[in-house]
Amino acid sequence: MRMNRDVIIACDFSSATEVFKFLDLFEGQRKPFVKIGMELFYAEGPAIVREIKRRGHPIFLDLKLHDIPNTVRKAMKVLSALDVDMVNVHAAGTIEMMKAALEGLTRLDGSRPLLIAVTQLTSTSEERMQKELLIGASMERTISQYALNACEAGLDGVVCSPREAGLVKGACGLGFLTVTPGIRFAGATADDQVRITTPAQAKDLGSDYIVVGRPITAAEDPVAAYQRCINDFI
Ligand code: C5P
Repeated sequence: MRMNRDVIIACDFSSATEVFKFLDLFEGQRKPFVKIGMELFYAEGPAIVREIKRRGHPIFLDLKLHDIPNTVRKAMKVLSALDVDMVNVHAAGTIEMMKAALEGLTRLDGSRPLLIAVTQLTSTSEERMQKELLIGASMERTISQYALNACEAGLDGVVCSPREAGLVKGACGLGFLTVTPGIRFAGATADDQVRITTPAQAKDLGSDYIVVGRPITAAEDPVAAYQRCINDFI
């Protein structure tokens, strides 16, 4: 890891060809931290992770594991051997599952990727959470409890909105990392994101890592858009 604050580019592409065409734009530049999600990983397999790593990019492998502790422990051992820098699990898998994830990730020399928990997905509304999942508490209360569970299990932080960063840090301490998507430049289209902030606002709200997809990947000049994020956030 180079630092505990950075801009992570969400590489939401469906093939290796597309992702490498995009990453080639950064040839000779600072190598951005990239997020690889389920679509790209399931399409291209571990080879895509190894190749992006070989090119010098730190990697957040966003696979959101959620299964019985033994399965998660063993799966994390495999991901750790891929030498990724950040991975995640669903906090809903319980403290026991998160502890198992941490065990699986820890390499023989004691090093390991950062481990981040998803609290409640931003696509889940408070109404659906209460009606379908029978979680009676408020969304805010649920997020801070899930963050506390992740903290107790020894995880490094959570994925959340920059607007929830204060809530999470208040519950878990300033050193507990917040990895925050939902970033847009001032005046830009929100796409399907609802609660958005600019990179500078995310910085002021205490985010440690911003996850930025389309504002960079769909920009006319992705390298300039990335640089703008770095300048505004770091
Ligand atoms: O293109 P955009 O900047 O909206 O991309 C944001 C990235 O962050 C996407 O990969 C999206 O799946 C991810 N994400 C999110 N909200 C969450 C968790 C992950 O937007 N709560």
